[in-house]
Amino acid sequence: MGSLRVGSPQELLRAQSHIWNHTFSFINSMSLKCAVELNIPDIIHNHGNSITLSDLSNSLSIPRSKAPCLRRLMSLLVHSKFLSEERIGVNNEESVFSLTVVSQVFLTENKSNASPFLLLMLDQILLRPWHFLSEWFKGDEPTTAFEIAHGVPVWDAMRKMVGFSDMFIEGMSSDASFTTEIIVRDCGEVFRGLRSLVDVGGGTGTLARAVAREFGLKCAVLELPYVVEGSEESEEVKFVGGDMFDYVPTADAVLLKWVLHDWSDEECVQILKNCKEAIPLKEEGGKVIIMEMVMDSSIVGHELAQTQFLFDLHMMAHTTGKERSEQMWQKIFMDAGFRGYKILPILGLRSVIEVYR
Ligand SMILES: C[S@@+](CC[C@H](N)C(=O)[O-])C[C@H]1O[C@@H](n2cnc3c(N)ncnc32)[C@H](O)[C@@H]1O
Repeated sequence: MGSLRVGSPQELLRAQSHIWNHTFSFINSMSLKCAVELNIPDIIHNHGNSITLSDLSNSLSIPRSKAPCLRRLMSLLVHSKFLSEERIGVNNEESVFSLTVVSQVFLTENKSNASPFLLLMLDQILLRPWHFLSEWFKGDEPTTAFEIAHGVPVWDAMRKMVGFSDMFIEGMSSDASFTTEIIVRDCGEVFRGLRSLVDVGGGTGTLARAVAREFGLKCAVLELPYVVEGSEESEEVKFVGGDMFDYVPTADAVLLKWVLHDWSDEECVQILKNCKEAIPLKEEGGKVIIMEMVMDSSIVGHELAQTQFLFDLHMMAHTTGKERSEQMWQKIFMDAGFRGYKILPILGLRSVIEVYR
């Protein structure tokens, strides 16, 4: 039988190149991880925001034989817009590398730097499940590829796998710090007028502390008992060890940042029903504040659309959750018995969704 060939030779060559690009796309992620592990953004920053290749090699104390390899790594990072490059010298023989707006987000002097989140997402624990995704598709059980890879669901792994919980908490805290700066600056209308708030699944309380300080609220953080262990309480922020599937403490508002996308629709409805019990009616100022992605089909073809799809598959591989469109969110809110909602697209790829009973 002859081979099936559709398309002109040129089209087939373009197809091959497209396939190669996707086959090797993981190298973008792993090269960035390598740069962060080598501390390249901090080294450039501490060197006055630009550095030659030879100075960078010296700062990294890498063997001379590896300098050409470092050049190759830097070329990919320049191509991916993490660094910029300028040629200097009489014959343009020397390269000077500088940080871009994107790589500045990795500087460790900023508490909100993106490195812990990147290192968590690209750790072997979270990469291993991808090798089991096709196996997971074919079977009814277990519920996630993560569980096939590690034998336990992700939340149990936090307690059982050495170092994973610390890495997870650090990764999430770095995102919480990054987002908190923007929330405090741009989301005043969401929090003003509230007297109390419970941050459900609020991690180590980064967001709760900032909201309490900035908007004068009394806050509580409801978290799994091992997460709240040893948390520093204050007059404004208390920590409650518990399970959101059982009970949510009462307050004017309940906050759920990056929690619901970890769970299936049925699980979300169960969590939201408990949140509904915890707050007053809309007329009395009650609301649930959700910070999550709202998948937008109108941006198909855009880099942002790809990021949405990547996040959705990330949730699929590791949890029972997903990223949701407005229609999917609306169904969950109505199934949990809420009367209305408002979407504020003010957090980049994520939105703030207010839900009322
Ligand atoms: C993706 S993290 C988000 C953390 C934080 N809200 C943030 O955005 O930085 C989800 C959080 O939910 C917490 N969590 C998981 N199951 C929970 C449960 N049954 N009850 C309360 N919290 C839970 C986890 O410990 C984790 O901190």
